[in-house]
Amino acid sequence: MATDPNRVIVFDTTLRDGEQSPGCSMNLHEKLEIAHALKELGVDVIEAGFPIASPGDFEAVQEIARRVEGPIICGLARCNTADIDRAAAAVKDAARPRVHVFLATSAIHREFKLKMSREEIIRRAVEGVKRARDQIEDVEFSPEDASRTELDFLAEVVEKAIEAGATTLNIPDTVGYAVPSHYAAIIRHLKQHVRGIEKCVLSVHCHNDLGLAVANTLAALHEGARQVECTINGIGERAGNTALEEVVMAMRTRQDYYGLNTGINTKLLFPMSRKLSHVTGMTVQRNKAIVGQNAFAHESGIHQDGMLKERSTYEIMRPEDVGISRTELVLGKHSGRHALRQRISDLGYHLTDEQLNKVFDSFKQLADRKKEVYDADIEALAESQMQVGQSNLWSLAGFTSTAGTGSQTSAAVALKHRDGRILRDAASGNGPIDALFAAIDRVTGTELKVVDYRVRAVTQDIDAQGEAYVEVEHNGKRLSARAVSVDVVEASALAYLEVINRVAARQTRDRLKPTDDIPHEVVPPVT
Ligand code: KIV
Ligand code: ZN
Repeated sequence: MATDPNRVIVFDTTLRDGEQSPGCSMNLHEKLEIAHALKELGVDVIEAGFPIASPGDFEAVQEIARRVEGPIICGLARCNTADIDRAAAAVKDAARPRVHVFLATSAIHREFKLKMSREEIIRRAVEGVKRARDQIEDVEFSPEDASRTELDFLAEVVEKAIEAGATTLNIPDTVGYAVPSHYAAIIRHLKQHVRGIEKCVLSVHCHNDLGLAVANTLAALHEGARQVECTINGIGERAGNTALEEVVMAMRTRQDYYGLNTGINTKLLFPMSRKLSHVTGMTVQRNKAIVGQNAFAHESGIHQDGMLKERSTYEIMRPEDVGISRTELVLGKHSGRHALRQRISDLGYHLTDEQLNKVFDSFKQLADRKKEVYDADIEALAESQMQVGQSNLWSLAGFTSTAGTGSQTSAAVALKHRDGRILRDAASGNGPIDALFAAIDRVTGTELKVVDYRVRAVTQDIDAQGEAYVEVEHNGKRLSARAVSVDVVEASALAYLEVINRVAARQTRDRLKPTDDIPHEVVPPVT
């Protein structure tokens, strides 16, 4: 793919390594929406999932392979026949399919997880890569826990994987153990000692347990790696993966040092981050690099003074280069459809005419209730419109809730079921939200453990829209959702209902699953 030696391939694993982290699971509709947005963003490879994990995962990878044109579509597989065949079947309809085969190589994994000798690991790696190559031209191989693998053995496995036909070799820092100079030394060693490595793309995949994922990735790029594996907002197992927006902007901002480039349209980084955050319900920390709310806010007087005199005194990147508009265009109730359409498109959203009409109606209602409508308001309207269209089990038809000092708090709700029935019930509780959630539980017949609940203003004005975030635990898994309304109690009800819908969708998916978990230690022989 990359004929320019300085072109870095961006491999996005938001839908695989990212999606498997707590609170980040997505349904098919959401995965497709994210995959289309990743394509718009300009990623080169989308790792769409782990097809053997469940019928739902297989379907998602297959649908993305069929419908998202442009990037390579990749499916993950352990080094065994069933996984590899399933991954190959899921991606085969893509214009450019890839199978990513992995097998752990470190002494700890060999001894305690796989119970395999070095020879056995090499044999299986070779057989796995060959089996994938028999079906798909483009095969990536990952020696899992590479950064804790003995260097001589790592080099041997990698060389054998290349001989077997791997076209990309990925070196994962699976547990986030590496530090930049150590990780760079591994890449350097492999480049010097592995025969045939120049025929392959050398890839890096870092986890952020020590907060070093981006630093390690950059160190590896400096040594000649030319594929970065990353996720939007850095979501992923435990402390997450390399954040796409950070590593891409580091390459761009320090072009003078690295001399590298990517195919990413950086102006879509902020909208992409917001979209993922909205879809998963996982908020981005305020001070997160590149896409956090404070990433371009200058608070100190000295900094503000410097900025006014010359921006480059305190700004190394322009917010508009990552899709954050510097000047907020305030819209009001007299603003027309054209101005709204323009603003939505500037914010990075591509809506159909029907979606735009609906956003326009909600915008007019909002402008009646609120004097000025800001970008964040419009984003919230656009995002909630993009979620409509999924056939949710429950929707809010109406509610009342009463609260006051010394009085009993109660709430009543009317909910619409997917089959068209409207069901009503009421409950009391410790405050209006508790009462509301209890009334919703009574109607839907669910009883969820709320583990986190937050409300924040979308903008800073007094009549701002409120955004509610609800996280629940269900069968040991965490699910979350967000919703926005001018009324924070309504936003809370909407967010809670969204979580209930996610639980229902997950239950349907789980009923179809052959097993609950994918045991990493079970590695059936490659036949
Ligand atoms: O972290 C890891 O080792 C992985 C592999 C499957 C590449 O995610
Ligand atoms: Zn990983």
